[in-house]
Formats: sequence, structure tokens, C-alpha cells
Amino acid sequence: MNRIAFSFLVALLAGSAFAADLSDAQRNAIVERIKPVGESCVEGDNTCAAAPATVVSAEPRSGEAVYNAACMACHSTGAAGAPKYGDAVAWSGRIAKGMPALYATGVGGVPGTGMIAKGGCMTCSDEDVYAAVDYMVAGSQ
Ligand code: HEC
Repeated sequence: MNRIAFSFLVALLAGSAFAADLSDAQRNAIVERIKPVGESCVEGDNTCAAAPATVVSAEPRSGEAVYNAACMACHSTGAAGAPKYGDAVAWSGRIAKGMPALYATGVGGVPGTGMIAKGGCMTCSDEDVYAAVDYMVAGSQ
């Protein structure tokens, strides 16, 4: 056995002997401390209450969630001439311009129309808008 493997084994044995001497409370405290940062919460797990709120709000929103919150008002009804979600005819010409063009109009708006910058969603990041555009395009072909 070479030296490195031997010292590893010693460390392993020492480690397990050490672990065996811990009380449950001590072991739980260690597990708590070495949890990965930003570990996701499971619903109903009350340790989640202690998680910082910023971790949750910093998570990217799904395209569907952004659409429902910020785009649906116009894009589900066709209000002000908005291309309706699911209307392949209304979307085909727009999709033909390519996704980068749609991302740009999603974020910047279409001047002179009801499509204002980010659909008026000032809390949406550019990425949120891209995700919503992806969602609308995927559902409208
Ligand atoms: C206040 C109404 C309104 C809201 C809210 C709205 N839109 Fe629009 N959107 C429009 C209208 C009207 C058009 C059509 C503009 C035109 O005449 O080309 C449009 C067009 C678009 C287009 C196609 C633009 C193009 O280049 O052809 C995209 C992409 C789009 N919206 C994305 C979004 C996204 C993403 C959201 C939510 C974050 C959103 N819109 C919210 C009214 C809205």
C-alpha cells in the first residue's frame, strides 16, 4: 500500500470513529452546515422558512409564468391587435423574422403599438421576456 492510500485509510477510519461519537444533534448540525448553498426547498419542509427570500426571487421564472403574469392580458385576447397565443396564422409572419427579432421586440416593444417595452413588465429581466417569447412562439405554430 502506498503512503497516500494509507493516510487516506487512516483518515477514513478516524473520520468514522469520530462520526460515531457524535450525538444526533451534533450530526444534524454538521449536515445543516455543509448543505449546498441555495439548496432548493421541498414544499412542506419547514426548514425552508429559514431560507433567505432572495434565493427564491432570484430564480429565473419559466416562460409560462412570465406569460401568465405579464403577457396574457393582451396576447390571450388579441387586445390592441396583439397576435394571440396559439394563433399560428397571426404568428407565422412574425416567427419568420427569426427569434432574435422577436426577443428584441419583446424587450424593446414595437413603437407606435400596444406592444410596449417588456409588455410593461418592469420587474421582468430580459431573460424572463425571452422565456415568455419562447413560450408564446412554441405554443403558436
Ligand atoms: C398591453 C398589451 C400587450 C402586452 C401586455 C404584451 N404585448 Fe406583446 N404585443 C402587443 C401588440 C399589440 C403586439 C402587436 C404589435 C404589432 O403591431 O406588431 C404585440 C406583439 C408582440 C410580439 C411580436 C413582435 C414582432 O416583432 O412581431 C412579441 C414577441 C411580443 N408581443 C411579446 C410580448 C411579451 C413577451 C409580453 C410579456 C412580457 C408581451 N408581449 C406583452 C401587445 C402586448
